[in-house]
Amino acid sequence: MATTRPSPEQEAEAALTVPLPLVGEAELLEQAADALGRNGWWHGTQMLDSAQVAALIEELDALREADRLHRAGIGRELDFQIDSDIRRDRIVWLNRQRPVQSAFLDQMERLRLALNRRLFLGLFEFEGHFAHYPPGGFYKRHLDSFRGAANRLVSVVVYLNRDWQAGDSGELVLFSEDESETLAVIEPRAGSMALFLSEEIPHEVRPAHKDRSSIAGWFRLNASIDGQIDPPR
Ligand code: OGA
Ligand code: MN
Repeated sequence: MATTRPSPEQEAEAALTVPLPLVGEAELLEQAADALGRNGWWHGTQMLDSAQVAALIEELDALREADRLHRAGIGRELDFQIDSDIRRDRIVWLNRQRPVQSAFLDQMERLRLALNRRLFLGLFEFEGHFAHYPPGGFYKRHLDSFRGAANRLVSVVVYLNRDWQAGDSGELVLFSEDESETLAVIEPRAGSMALFLSEEIPHEVRPAHKDRSSIAGWFRLNASIDGQIDPPR
């Protein structure tokens, strides 16, 4: 009897329908929570395996082809504005309609619970988007949240760039709270992940010499007032 083997794409899709651990999840989450608590940031070089990175890259490519990305802005709601002197990326928010995105959101959920368990942060939910920076794209130094806004508490960035070379620029640079010190210069290599405190770590994306893709996200506190859940974004 002839058997048809699943295509690599079908296998990748099937793999994503079962819970997918981050690479070395248990120890890494421990380390990550620890470093975040102590230093305010953490960088893991290999958090997603290459099959998942490939699936996420394919997903972002499809979304770009379907013209689903839009210019990212700064500020929220009434303060929202697009300023291409500050940032030059295009984004599309993640959702649970697609298995590839859903599997990633499940991982972020486990990361959220791990951070809460170890750091007592009370993180309430995750929001995140794919981001694509064209060649020359950058994001000037900024904070993801302002102290007291009680909103975004922990920032996470996962990179989707295979074959990234040292000279490609496009690094994420993290600074100390008073901006006097550079804490880390992080190359956006496929499968790596950066975590940092949204209210305390100023950071920037250096202009990249080629296309640069990532998922940027935030763990938020529940800023509900009078029982009304603060809507994300
Ligand atoms: C952001 C951001 C960093 C990166 O989207 O707010 O700072 O390395 N991204 O893409
Ligand atoms: Mn940022």
